[in-house]
Amino acid sequence: MILCENNLFLLKNDNLSYMLRADHRGIVRHVHFGESVRMEDAEALACRPGLGWGSNVLLEDSDSGSSLSDIALEWSGSGRGDYRETPLEMDGRPTDFRYVSYEVVEGAASMASTLPQAHGDCETLILTLEQPGLRLKLYYSLFPTALTRRVVLENIGDESRTIHKIMSFCMDIPGNFEMTSFGGGWSAEMNKTVANVGYGRVVNESVTGASSSRNNPGFLLSEPDATENYGHVYGFNLVYSGNHYSAAQNCIQGLTRVMQGINPSNLHRELQPGEKFETPEAVLCCSDRGFGGLSRQMHTFVNDHIIPPYWRGRPRPVLYNSWEGCMFNFTQRRLLDLADRAKDLGCELFVLDDGWFGKRNDDFAGLGDYNINYKKLPDGISGLAKKIQAKGLQFGLWFEPESVNPDSDLYRAHPDWALTDEFPVLLGRHQLLLDLRKKEVRDYIVEQVGNVLDSGAISYVKWDMNRNSIALGAAAHEFVLGVYDVLDRIFRPRPGILLEGCSSGGNRFDLGMLCYSPQIWCSDDTDPIQRLTIQGNLSYLYPQSSFGAHVSAAPHAQTLRSTPLSTRGNVSFFGQLGYELDLKHLLPVEIKEIKAQTTFYKKYREVFQYGDFTRTKTGWQVSRGKTTIAGVFHTIVHAAPPYEQLRVPGLKKDQLYHVMSLPQSLRVGQFGSLLKHVAPVEVNPHGFLLGKIDNHYQMPDGNEDLVASGAALAGGILLKPLFRGTGYDTNQRTQTDFGSNVYVIEEM
Ligand code: GLA
Repeated sequence: MILCENNLFLLKNDNLSYMLRADHRGIVRHVHFGESVRMEDAEALACRPGLGWGSNVLLEDSDSGSSLSDIALEWSGSGRGDYRETPLEMDGRPTDFRYVSYEVVEGAASMASTLPQAHGDCETLILTLEQPGLRLKLYYSLFPTALTRRVVLENIGDESRTIHKIMSFCMDIPGNFEMTSFGGGWSAEMNKTVANVGYGRVVNESVTGASSSRNNPGFLLSEPDATENYGHVYGFNLVYSGNHYSAAQNCIQGLTRVMQGINPSNLHRELQPGEKFETPEAVLCCSDRGFGGLSRQMHTFVNDHIIPPYWRGRPRPVLYNSWEGCMFNFTQRRLLDLADRAKDLGCELFVLDDGWFGKRNDDFAGLGDYNINYKKLPDGISGLAKKIQAKGLQFGLWFEPESVNPDSDLYRAHPDWALTDEFPVLLGRHQLLLDLRKKEVRDYIVEQVGNVLDSGAISYVKWDMNRNSIALGAAAHEFVLGVYDVLDRIFRPRPGILLEGCSSGGNRFDLGMLCYSPQIWCSDDTDPIQRLTIQGNLSYLYPQSSFGAHVSAAPHAQTLRSTPLSTRGNVSFFGQLGYELDLKHLLPVEIKEIKAQTTFYKKYREVFQYGDFTRTKTGWQVSRGKTTIAGVFHTIVHAAPPYEQLRVPGLKKDQLYHVMSLPQSLRVGQFGSLLKHVAPVEVNPHGFLLGKIDNHYQMPDGNEDLVASGAALAGGILLKPLFRGTGYDTNQRTQTDFGSNVYVIEEM
């Protein structure tokens, strides 16, 4: 609900309250963001500067408490006494917006541009502020688990103005915080950085043209003593896939200014008289239940209000993807053979990745030409799709529509369609971006991709983008608007197609893309131990329903690490399970294990995909209805390990639960020459016999079948002990490095 009284505004629901006030000078002040409060709390919550601080510039000379630097604001200008970072810069001139009026509307108040926005039940408060020649509207949409903010700036004067910086929101919250942000690069996305927000500005930004894997746009502000389950944590994210900027900074008054929006770097956007500029929508969440509480709120918000409505809560298929197994090297025969094997393993969707069009036999040529390579695929895409469908599998296809190789018919016909600058062209992965600011380019993409999608039974699209932009500032923003236009025109009329975003892995994992693609390929790194970091840190901001997570071959292409197949499955379960390896070389024991994995995942897929996600000391946990599933992940094994506790928070204390592990097994050959201590006959650890045994038989390992109460599980039950160098026994878990277990905890 949104309450308004004497220019005091309270946006309030069961999860959060947000309060602001327009004061007698028309300055819009921030009052509160957090626990559910009442209108009567306004006075107690407001910051009262008293006689103010020395050396400040005052709005009124007779009022020493009237410096803009001393109060918590909802928006600020420059050059008018607030020396904290400004959310708006125009022509190097001061800005000073004052409150004029408000309006409350049902729903989210549609955007005028192609920017995506959160949808679903909400109410929106719109404040209008003005200064001579300019009008600024502040939008606040209240959703059950989050608040979104954005602004629209309008030139109501008669001179042209230039925007150099415009944030989606700005706010001052009392307290000291730490900023947690996530970054890295290709195949090493989402590393966590925690920085103390002091008087120096802490910035999280991207200037690559995309939201980028260097710095994901989402970030958290937490009280320094906040933990997974305790303390105040704020979460922020931007519904935007281009250059972003977020900053937090404390000041002597103990207020933390936080803002987020389009990156101002090189943003020189002309605003002609009568013209408006709207910013992307920012998402603001808060929790007093630590990082875990905050994450679950973000997850609910994304699942309910960001991903396309058709896919809300809809189960996602187990897929097979051809990339890591085949790369560009395939024929229809090979694909159909893989499809048979994938079907037999329990996959439901077969995805043909890169290499099916133009001269795309490597990454030097062909991007832009969506004519089918009939040499590889004699029956075309429609014929292949039909054949795959006849096997009982859905069919999906890879595209990279925003890019063009100079070695392509498209580039030869329209070199001016590529995004270049006045200097010699710069290639990235041998490709350029298409200039999606041009309508004819967007029309071409919509038509080409649309034609392929309508040519056969295509249920899924992987939409890739593999280079950074060279476009700067306003051009980069217009490129992103072009991407959204194209996505909207292709997929709005085809809502049933499951879209998976990708950009060299997780180079564009953001809420803007999630408005079109319910899932995104987290990383080209499919090593499960790396995925513990990547998926684990994504979980702070994004729901596991959005994680494309595949089992690949070990040793892994990205790390050369060998990991157990069980761990590859156990990590991928906490996302959208897929398989991405050459199935021809699977051993009989591996085939058996993968079949068990897909059966298990399908049985519990709604728990994995949409359950409440918790990061625990030993791994991850998901809960839905009467079922909780806990993953326990190990990295490096230590000698003589202590007992390990499985703690399962959030259960009903008095309820009894059945605790069962997903059965796991062990290669005999894992013991190598140690076998001589137990085998009745001498066994060559490198010999034919052991190899043969390992291909067909594995020993059961550490399987658990227990009953425990919710109270015992909350405190922690002791799992079967880990291997201690004293022999093999089914009453222990004989795990090597990178071992793991998954436990199903079912209400009895
Ligand atoms: C990118 C993607 C991969 C794969 C290749 C194909 O690297 O991240 O998953 O689709 O492109 O060229």
